[in-house]
Amino acid sequence: MRLIAHLSDLHFGKADPAVVEALVADIAQTKPDLVIISGDLTQRAKSHQFAEARAFLERLGAPVLVVPGNHDLAPFYRPLKRLLAPRAKFEKHLPGLAQATCYSDDEIIAIGLDSTRHLRWQSGKLRSHHLDEVRSELADSADHHCKVAFLHHPPSTAVAGHSFDTLVEHGIDLILTGHAHKAHVDVINTPAHGSCVLVQASTACSTRLRQDANGFALIQVDFPRLSVNIRGWNGSAFHTLHVHAFTKQGETWKALA
Ligand SMILES: [Fe+2]
Ligand SMILES: [Fe+2]
Repeated sequence: MRLIAHLSDLHFGKADPAVVEALVADIAQTKPDLVIISGDLTQRAKSHQFAEARAFLERLGAPVLVVPGNHDLAPFYRPLKRLLAPRAKFEKHLPGLAQATCYSDDEIIAIGLDSTRHLRWQSGKLRSHHLDEVRSELADSADHHCKVAFLHHPPSTAVAGHSFDTLVEHGIDLILTGHAHKAHVDVINTPAHGSCVLVQASTACSTRLRQDANGFALIQVDFPRLSVNIRGWNGSAFHTLHVHAFTKQGETWKALA
């Protein structure tokens, strides 16, 4: 069994300090095997915002994987940096983390995919090289591995390119996303081949709230079963909002009542 804490859209620079402290406490209590952050660690990709994000990650007491979100690229009001070195600060301030985006052990394989596009602001894209990365990382996988992909953009904001169905066709069981600042858990069924579980996390600790309160997901992996516990902020602490359970039968993931 493995426990993954999935956080997204931290937006340091617009983070609520009380929520940040509660998040650290909640994660310390649950002791996940792995923390996955699906992008937007900062509000404007400023050095001090990355420094705050890094200090937060170092307090979590677990291995951390990150991918950038659209807010982690050099902003459009710095056009040369945006064009020539959009991820320079992300890579500089998160040494090691920015480069090592994959994790594997004898139960799970997690693969980070950078879906950001430096010539666009909001939308993301799955490209051919992402599928090459997935194929490469899964080359030595076994049937008992739960195969996880994480990226910033959810299906609703990913533009033409490869669809999420393609990730499923490459054997991915679980996709973790963010960006929408709204929690959503579902099964993605592909027309041709199998299915996977999608977990879209809300914003973990920022004041950039849309429809949802701050929240994150605790995912228990006991392959071929998954349990997704959506934790939400109630103004003083995180608590469980919903629990979703799934099991894999053949190539297909099914929600359990
Ligand atoms: Fe965001
Ligand atoms: Fe975003």
